[in-house]
Amino acid sequence: MRLQDSTIIVTGAGGGIGRALALEFARNGARVICCGRRKGRLDETVRLIASAEGVGLALPTDITQRDQVQHLVDTTLSRFGGIDVLFNNAGSFQSIAGVHEVDPELWWHDVTVNLYGSLLMIREVLSHMINRDRGIIINMNGGRPVGGTGYACGKAGLMELTRVMVQELRMAESSVIVFSAGPGLVRTEMTELQANTEAGRKWIPSTKKSFESGKVRRPEEIARATVRLVELARPEWSGKDYGPGTDFSQF
Ligand SMILES: NC(=O)c1ccc[n+]([C@@H]2O[C@H](COP(=O)([O-])OP(=O)(O)OC[C@H]3O[C@@H](n4cnc5c(N)ncnc54)[C@H](OP(=O)(O)O)[C@@H]3O)[C@@H](O)[C@H]2O)c1
Repeated sequence: MRLQDSTIIVTGAGGGIGRALALEFARNGARVICCGRRKGRLDETVRLIASAEGVGLALPTDITQRDQVQHLVDTTLSRFGGIDVLFNNAGSFQSIAGVHEVDPELWWHDVTVNLYGSLLMIREVLSHMINRDRGIIINMNGGRPVGGTGYACGKAGLMELTRVMVQELRMAESSVIVFSAGPGLVRTEMTELQANTEAGRKWIPSTKKSFESGKVRRPEEIARATVRLVELARPEWSGKDYGPGTDFSQF
């Protein structure tokens, strides 16, 4: 897909990988709608986009709230006329505990953001894309670490949702492309919680070790690779999962 003058929604664009993605899409000429709950962080992303001479719009949205998701999509459509790409990047990994001691509310929050929030975004954007018979949806995958069952179940559910919706789109002979991507370990607010809390160090000790040994990827690196994925995306990619080890020279 040609990114110049395209319209792209990035969820979780207020920091981490999402901010880097928003900036990279904007640098490549896309108009980027930046979504997340914390307005100040979205405003900062849009400021960075503007200083790179790009076009960005901050629309604070909790993706688990249907009315807010509808408002985000309606505003994007009335402002820009169409949506070419939805990057379902927003995610939550707050529950770090063994199943026997987990806080069920926090566990459910992780499932809700990663699965239900992503579903609401997809559902709201997909009918528009089906009507146009074009568009790309990318769902962010993630690991399934011990001590992170809420996160793991949410991401596993999202991957299953991706697989089945691809079949539905094939049945409808739709040209909409849907695939997933996984970034590998990146130092962000999410993974700082694993490295800097007692529960995180107990259950996911590999994160702190990787930080200390420098075995982490940078959000900017992920963003560059992902932008390339979107530029090259083809219908036969639907249903595939592009992990951190993807060899781009094959495309
Ligand atoms: N970092 C890694 O090593 C790694 C590895 C594998 C997969 N991932 C995936 O990559 C994606 C980005 O994660 P990250 O590492 O960049 O972490 P992050 O910095 O914590 O980013 C998560 C983003 O999601 C947003 N978010 C959370 N709940 C939301 C909600 N209800 N509505 C809207 N936005 C919400 C947050 O913004 P607000 O709090 O302002 O809403 C934040 O911007 C996630 O899907 C994550 O699972 C990351």
